[in-house]
Amino acid sequence: MRFDIITIFPEMFTGVFSGGIIKKAQEKGLLQVVVHNLRDYTADKHRQVDDRPFGGGEGMVFKPEPIFAAVDSIRRTAQAPVYLLSPQGRKFDHRLARDMARRRQVILICGRYEGVDERVSQALATEEVSIGDYILTGGEPAAVVILDAVSRFVPGVVGKTDSVERDSFSRGLLDFPHYTRPRDFRGMKVPQPLFSGDHRRIAAWRRKKALEKTWFKRPDLLQAVELSPEEETLLDEVRREQKERKNS
Ligand SMILES: C[S@@+](CC[C@H](N)C(=O)[O-])C[C@H]1O[C@@H](n2cnc3c(N)ncnc32)[C@H](O)[C@@H]1O
Repeated sequence: MRFDIITIFPEMFTGVFSGGIIKKAQEKGLLQVVVHNLRDYTADKHRQVDDRPFGGGEGMVFKPEPIFAAVDSIRRTAQAPVYLLSPQGRKFDHRLARDMARRRQVILICGRYEGVDERVSQALATEEVSIGDYILTGGEPAAVVILDAVSRFVPGVVGKTDSVERDSFSRGLLDFPHYTRPRDFRGMKVPQPLFSGDHRRIAAWRRKKALEKTWFKRPDLLQAVELSPEEETLLDEVRREQKERKNS
């Protein structure tokens, strides 16, 4: 899978992809990250990428010509999606990350200043994508977040695929709690079922804890997930225990 990132600050990506899983994925040839300087696609001697807004007002706006020229030059097939990073876009989530990971090439456009000339959104971008309801100074941090999350779905990038499948949101539930040594830390003990050696008991405990966490932290998720009869029973238990705790 290949990511092309269009930015006026290519140096911002130097450190961030040169360590950890993303670096290994690139070395293994599973992932290719190509960062393009938007100024390389300008046609004037000042390499101007922005201009003042029509209608007046503060700040600068990215001009459409260099962005269209960059995409025309980078895009390998007409099917490759072009995402304009924008706080006004579709909220990036687990599902969109998984969909993006099925593509061979994904192009991300990082805006700056007041944003990007509207014609990029109208006639070039497949979709605008936001990483949350807040304003970043530029699209670069959003590109890093998206690339990191998407790359986890590219086969082979994360060592144990089953950990991707188990992670929070995969099944619509949050992940179960994890513990490691020591067994007793400042009086906080690791739950007993994890030492039972009984795999079925451990699996049942984890299923219940995943339901409990989801119920407490993100009850909205439970509305969209289809639970098995066993999980329904476990969830009833979680609710009953919560009631008992409240009453005691
Ligand atoms: C300061 S913002 C421009 C905000 C714009 N004036 C608005 O209110 O919609 C500059 C650039 O940062 C990026 N950006 C800011 N917040 C973002 C977010 N939540 N998700 C994705 N990109 C974002 C976009 O590329 C945007 O063009």
